[in-house]
Amino acid sequence: MPNWLKDAVFYEIYPQTFCDSNGDGIGDIPGIISKLEYVKELGCNAIWLNPFYDSPFMDAGYDVRDYKKVAERYGTIDDVREMLKKAHSLGIRIIFDLVPGHTSDQNEWFLKSKQPGKNEFSGRYIWTDSVWEAPPQYRLLCGITDRDGNYLVNFFSSQPALNYGFNIMRFWLDVGCDGFRVDMADSLVKNEDGEKPETCKIWKGIRKMMDEEYPDAALVSEWCNPKVSIGAGFHCDFYLDHDNNGYRILFRNKDRKTGETTAVFSKNGKGDITAFLDEYLSDLNATKDKGYISFITCNHDTPRMTKLFDKTEAKLAYSFIFMMPGVPFLYYGDEIGMKFMEGLTSKEGGFSRTGTRTPMQWDDTANHGFSSAPADKLYLPVDTSDDAVTVKAALEDPDSILNTLKKVIEIRHANPDLQSDGEFEVIYAVKEKYPFIFKRGEFIIAVNPTNQEQSAPFAFDCDTVYELGSHEQKGSYMVMSAQTLSLLKIK
Ligand code: GLC
Ligand code: CA
Repeated sequence: MPNWLKDAVFYEIYPQTFCDSNGDGIGDIPGIISKLEYVKELGCNAIWLNPFYDSPFMDAGYDVRDYKKVAERYGTIDDVREMLKKAHSLGIRIIFDLVPGHTSDQNEWFLKSKQPGKNEFSGRYIWTDSVWEAPPQYRLLCGITDRDGNYLVNFFSSQPALNYGFNIMRFWLDVGCDGFRVDMADSLVKNEDGEKPETCKIWKGIRKMMDEEYPDAALVSEWCNPKVSIGAGFHCDFYLDHDNNGYRILFRNKDRKTGETTAVFSKNGKGDITAFLDEYLSDLNATKDKGYISFITCNHDTPRMTKLFDKTEAKLAYSFIFMMPGVPFLYYGDEIGMKFMEGLTSKEGGFSRTGTRTPMQWDDTANHGFSSAPADKLYLPVDTSDDAVTVKAALEDPDSILNTLKKVIEIRHANPDLQSDGEFEVIYAVKEKYPFIFKRGEFIIAVNPTNQEQSAPFAFDCDTVYELGSHEQKGSYMVMSAQTLSLLKIK
């Protein structure tokens, strides 16, 4: 287990919309380099960078054409080297995105695989034996190649399913990256793999290679099933915005019939923390000392929380994330409360995800400092509405989400009890009631996201370390005002 994960706080950077250094309207690696100090000031000591490899961009780069080549629009491999060098000198690690389950249909391997004659690449993707064979339970593309067969698709039609164990990891680890976030990590073995035993076998082998050759590199999975993925050798696994998952219960749930929000962190108070804990405690227990659950503020596939939550709700939700065990991830722009931009035309396979991928808002110059290109040449429009927050304004506002998060992250770094391995014990959690109170070593965290005063029995004698809102200890009760998170230290 890489030691640095014990106190890692990640920042996710979407390269196309973070910072454009050369005015072509698309973010790039030199742009990222110029903002590394910013990431450090936030308190993040690690970055997850979304794919920057050569690609036809049918899925924003998750359709890789050449795994070892940097897409021209982002820069060169020397830029990548320089980015790593500078990040490392600032104490920031960078993990890259690894897409092992599929390639672009423009990848050279696939171009060869779809040739009619048998060749070295024929078996590198999954083909039926003839075009007349097309079992409907598989997502096959039929009759569009010279090869007499249909091929399996892993995600979009431009992403044929890869059937190959490969060596791209060593290439980038040797360049100096600090590990990988693995895209659709559960999708390696394409035929029925129920609980994924065969996929897990492959990952265990990869983890063994990493332990031997790159023991300090991290493996993070997009899997959303920590019991299985961490058992398979991943160091961290995300809780994602999937049905009935912890992330959704906390931050997204809606009543299926009425459409009303039932997320735990909604101020309407209709959530159920015990539904979250049922899953979380079991996952936490099963993965203890083996790997970490990663909470995210959001990611490039999910609507930003501000679509549902106002500023105070978002502050409480994000602060909570950084008070939890495991390795947390902050999605670029969430720290200033960037909006999910409605009504955008899909860009590069973004579809409903597009509104979450708009350019970072840095300052009050043109395009909020993202790019010097004319506004109509930008990769996606910048939110220039009157209430669009920028980093510059947020830094100056003591009440901003940004300053709140900086403080919370600073406290986390200063106290091992609050970091990845710190303990987690439920003190007060009652079905459909608030507040929620839990203990982490010497600390107590009490959170009342609702817009009502809430109280709970409470028997600890504490000092307040940090607080959003306010609370009072009345006899053997803790009374919390509406929308409060209190970090307390036991005397
Ligand atoms: C993952 C990525 C997503 C991509 C998909 C296919 O879910 O996060 O953005 O579209 O995999 O690679
Ligand atoms: Ca650029």
